[in-house]
Amino acid sequence: MSPLLDIQHVTYSYPIPTGQSEKDSPVAVLRDLSLQIREGEYVVLLGHNGCGKSTLARLCNALILPDRGHVLVDGYDTQDADQIRTIRDNVGMVFQNPDNQIIATVVEDDVAWSLAVRGWSRAMIKERVEAAMAAVGIAHLRDRLPSKLSGGQRQRVALAGILALRPRCIITDEATSMLDPLSRQEITQLLHQLHQEQGLTLIQITHLLEEAALAQRVVVMEQGQVVLDGPPAAIFRDLDLLRSLKLEIPEPLVLAERLRQAGVPLSPEAITLNAIAEELAS
Ligand SMILES: Nc1ncnc2c1ncn2[C@@H]1O[C@H](COP(=O)(O)OP(=O)(O)O)[C@@H](O)[C@H]1O
Ligand SMILES: [Mg+2]
Repeated sequence: MSPLLDIQHVTYSYPIPTGQSEKDSPVAVLRDLSLQIREGEYVVLLGHNGCGKSTLARLCNALILPDRGHVLVDGYDTQDADQIRTIRDNVGMVFQNPDNQIIATVVEDDVAWSLAVRGWSRAMIKERVEAAMAAVGIAHLRDRLPSKLSGGQRQRVALAGILALRPRCIITDEATSMLDPLSRQEITQLLHQLHQEQGLTLIQITHLLEEAALAQRVVVMEQGQVVLDGPPAAIFRDLDLLRSLKLEIPEPLVLAERLRQAGVPLSPEAITLNAIAEELAS
């Protein structure tokens, strides 16, 4: 089966701002990067600030085009102008700040917005909006003003608006980074659940290692390239390597490392507090 997202040898540099001299030649932000994501995968794309994660996300949605190489979405090349609509329908994006995505003054209308713009029938809009609000747990907030909701609730509204379009893949770009730790965990848990229940292909972009524990696959970037790719337990094995990639090691992993050093046998799967507690108890 061909991958849903096929990033082939992509190199990308941002254009030099006008007024700056040509000799400030652009530095490649992505360098010969290849990555394949299959339908139904839950991938966390990890890397410290500035390594190129958001640039990669923009390439997947045809917001920018590669200088060299190709990005294929369900077989369609993002450089094919005729397919941009199809590509954007297939790949939904959720950004850091939900306020940039919220348009309407009432929650339900906001979730319906992109469907209404497409001129779909009322019945179809109603059905999809209900399903999307239920999936993210905001049906009870339907009549509220988004501006009066908490950050976590507003991010759920933004996510529902994307889900209502029924994309095959959702890319969340630091969608939890403006939230408090509890809402952050809740949104990560929600994304995990949407993947499990709806079979959604999910790419969760973050600089936080702790958000990677629930993923099936973790892809780590550094300076515009993929440097690690594997299941969380394998990625979390070499904490010194992760430290050298400027990633902050989450507390459960530090704890597991100390326990192992003290002679407590823990499996590589002991990457969350729950998993550690279960292994200690047995
Ligand atoms: N619009 C832009 N114009 C010029 N340079 C940019 C732009 N956006 C990002 N960059 C640069 O590209 C590099 C990668 O940025 P980005 O993709 O946002 O990384 P990340 O999302 O991993 O933090 C950084 O050095 C950043 O300064
Ligand atoms: Mg970013």
